[in-house]
Amino acid sequence: MRRKLAAGNWKMNGTGENLAELSALAKAHPEPGADLLICPPATLLSRAAAAAPSIPLGGQDCHASASGAHTGDISAEMLKDAGASAVILGHSERRTDHGEADAEVRSKSEAAWQQGLTAVICIGETLAEREAGDALTVAGTQLAGSTPDAATGANTVIAYEPVWAIGTGRVPTVEQIGEMHDFLRAELVSRFGEATGNAIRLLYGGSVKASNAAEIFAVNNVDGALVGGASLKAADFTPIITALENA
Ligand code: 13P
Repeated sequence: MRRKLAAGNWKMNGTGENLAELSALAKAHPEPGADLLICPPATLLSRAAAAAPSIPLGGQDCHASASGAHTGDISAEMLKDAGASAVILGHSERRTDHGEADAEVRSKSEAAWQQGLTAVICIGETLAEREAGDALTVAGTQLAGSTPDAATGANTVIAYEPVWAIGTGRVPTVEQIGEMHDFLRAELVSRFGEATGNAIRLLYGGSVKASNAAEIFAVNNVDGALVGGASLKAADFTPIITALENA
């Protein structure tokens, strides 16, 4: 049985005053029936850990190297030191803004594991790729190239985030989500075997909100969500967490 996971990606949003949202979230879910993860900006990690010790935290990126001359970058060890237990890697915004390719995401995932961080590896097709009928091929190629060979259910989570659904309010149909998640599950089982392939959690991400969460969580092989905008406020994220607990 895969435990459900509700993960929030704050992206480049949030300063000290937003930590009250985290405390409110912790208060609203003292004993959550699903795993929680909040990935605030790195500048907030250590304060977030202090503000809401019960909520697991993640970074939004790390460098593939352990340390060195990489101005502005953050290592996996630094994230861990600041209080993170996970890190989002290969988000489409990193792939677009910073030209991250699958091989780099794979190296970063291994760097994260070195520090005991769970890698939340993001994949997903663009609108043009979906309209060309290439969604499964594109996501499958990203999955294969971005996920290292030593992936397990404990060290890796895969987030399927169609680029055209991120921040747009546009969501794939439940049939499209189901087709993709069943396909990704089959790919994982084929590569890693039944036990590991069935243990790695598959999140859906892209315009998840309270109003669509329950129907998305009812889809086969959807083990939770990676939520952007609706994770910034406890009042918006709480009903999504509740929908997952009830799924
Ligand atoms: P939105 O939920 O704002 O669409 O963002 C999704 C996302 O990119 C999470 O990583």
